[in-house]
This record gives sequence, C-alpha cells and structure tokens, in this order.
Amino acid sequence: MMESPFKSDIFMNRVALVTGGSSGIGFEIARQLGLHGARVAVSGRRQDVLDTAVAALGADGITAVGLQGDVRSAASCEAWIDSLKQRWGPGLDVLVNCAAGNFLATAEELSPNGFKTVMEIDALGTFNMSRAAFPALRASRCPHGAAIVNISATLQYGATWWQAHASAAKAAVDSITRSLALEWGEFGVRVNGVAPGPIEGTAGMAKLAPGAKEMVQSTIPLRNQMGRKFDIAMAVVFLASPAAAFVSGDTLVVDGASWMWRPQLVERSGVSKASRGVEGKSRAVGLAAAGAANNPTSKL
Ligand code: COA
Repeated sequence: MMESPFKSDIFMNRVALVTGGSSGIGFEIARQLGLHGARVAVSGRRQDVLDTAVAALGADGITAVGLQGDVRSAASCEAWIDSLKQRWGPGLDVLVNCAAGNFLATAEELSPNGFKTVMEIDALGTFNMSRAAFPALRASRCPHGAAIVNISATLQYGATWWQAHASAAKAAVDSITRSLALEWGEFGVRVNGVAPGPIEGTAGMAKLAPGAKEMVQSTIPLRNQMGRKFDIAMAVVFLASPAAAFVSGDTLVVDGASWMWRPQLVERSGVSKASRGVEGKSRAVGLAAAGAANNPTSKL
C-alpha cells in the first residue's frame, strides 16, 4: 500500500461525499479521505457496486455509507444530502464530484442523445450535486471552510480525437469550478478541480485508449509512467485539506505533464549541434548587421 505524506487525522470528525465513489478513481479518493479520518459517503447508480465498495471501505476501518441514485437527477442529489443530514448531522465538509461518463465516438456518429448524456452526467451532475450540497457545505464547522473538488480532465485544453462530448462537458465542469469559487467564497466554501491524465487500471484507459498503453506511456514526459489512482486521491486530499486553505477556483493538473506533450522536432542528442550551427551563422549575421549600423561606412 502506498503511504500518504499527509497526517492520518487531517479529516477527523469531517464528513465527505464522493459521487461516483463506488469504483475507479472515485473509490480511491473516498478511501484516502477515509484513511485520513473522514466519514465517507459514496454515491452511484448500482446498488451491488455500492455495497461492495462500502464493505471494502469498512474493511479498511472507514465509516462509510452508500447512496444509490443518479447525479443527473437533482432529486437524487437532494435525497443524498437529506440522508447524510439524518445520519451524520447537518454539515458536509468535503464534496468530490467524480461521477462521469465517457466513450469514444466520432462526432458524425455521436447521437445528440450521446452528447447530451455525457454533458448531463459530467456538467449538470456537478452542478446538481454542488447546488444540493450548498446548505450543508455552508453548515460545515471546518475552521478552514468546506471544500468542493471537481474531477475534470485535460482533453478539453486543446482538442482530443473522438471526444467532442466529453471535452465540452469537462470544459463546462472547469467553468463551474470557477463560477462557484467566485460565488461561494464568501460562505467559506472553496471550489477547486483536479484534472487527471492517463491513470493505470481505470475504466478511462480501457474505454478511451484500448490496447494503446505503450503509446500513451510514451507521451508522458514524467518518466514515461502512467499515473496511479493514488496520485489523484493525494491531489484531492491536498485540495480538501488546510494546506489549501487559500486555494479556490483552480484546477490542478495531475498528469505527469502529458497534456503538453508534442513530438520532438529535434532529438535531445542533436539539439546543441543543430542549435549552435544555426546560431553560429545568425550570430555572424547579427554582429555584421550591428557593426554596419554603428559604422555606416563599414564594408561588412
Ligand atoms: N458510442 C456512441 N454512442 C454511445 C456509446 C458509444 N460507445 N455508448 C452510449 N452511447 C450513446 C447511446 O447510443 C445513447 O444514445 P441514443 O439514445 O441516441 O442511442 C446515449 O449514448 C446514452 O446511452 P445509454 O447507454 O442509454 O446511457 P447510460 O446513461 O445508461 O450510460 C454512459 C451512460 C453511456 C456514459 C455509460 O458509458 C456509463 O454509464 N458510463 C459510466 C462510466 C464511465 O464512462 N466512466 C468514465 C470513463 S472515462
């Protein structure tokens, strides 16, 4: 098991809710919040998956509850908050909006309902859940305020093949992060995001890059290694913790610098030779030009 660099009690007496927390990255986020002392609620659509997740969290000594429903339904989100209120009191300290949907589809084959479905899970779901949770977040007794962390992506920074729907949805999520940070700061609610890059062992890798692990790894500048669910969870723990007490409205990219990757036009081993060669000439031209400017009679 990887060891957290954070103190194990930083979320003691805190309540956290992680949507999409019954599997994948969301589950690891829930687990790490729990291992740092929080009581954790995970929401999801499938009761059997929720039951398995709650049992696994319990086995790690975490007080956990599963909340069945769908973030696309405002009524679901409100019911979850009511249920938490009855169980653990009125305050919610950490909300992680992690529920998301995605698949590969060319734009011409993507149906309007396919586009709408992903927009509704990611963007509307983030809004529905945050809106429903707002009174409980305001009621947080956490001295450094309550925190929302929205799980985003990097595919919308430029454009990503076969991801028109998810790119639009995650751009909307990033926008919601900034808007809520602006509007809810006065109530002590911080709102941030985490944008994961390629993370090993996730539905995202299986669905979005099937059979392309090596190719993906070759585009990750940081040691050509994929991220781990743990890396994303640690970023969430940081943003929800007092260490980020003055951080709001930002989305932290956790991707080993992969979204910036471009093919090298010149290989590392050839950079100096190529550069000095070109610069040698241009320096002579530059000096000659400067000399000519200072001395109009120069024959150079
Ligand atoms: N390619 C193209 N269109 C697809 C598709 C695919 N692989 N999968 C679903 N769709 C379309 C459907 O055809 C449907 O559109 P239509 O009514 O015009 O035919 C629309 O999307 C909704 O599909 P449906 O299966 O009814 O939606 P759902 O709400 O049951 O499931 C998904 C939502 C499709 C996002 C599903 O993949 C899901 O639940 N994902 C959650 C897990 C996940 O994706 N995590 C993120 C990993 S990166």
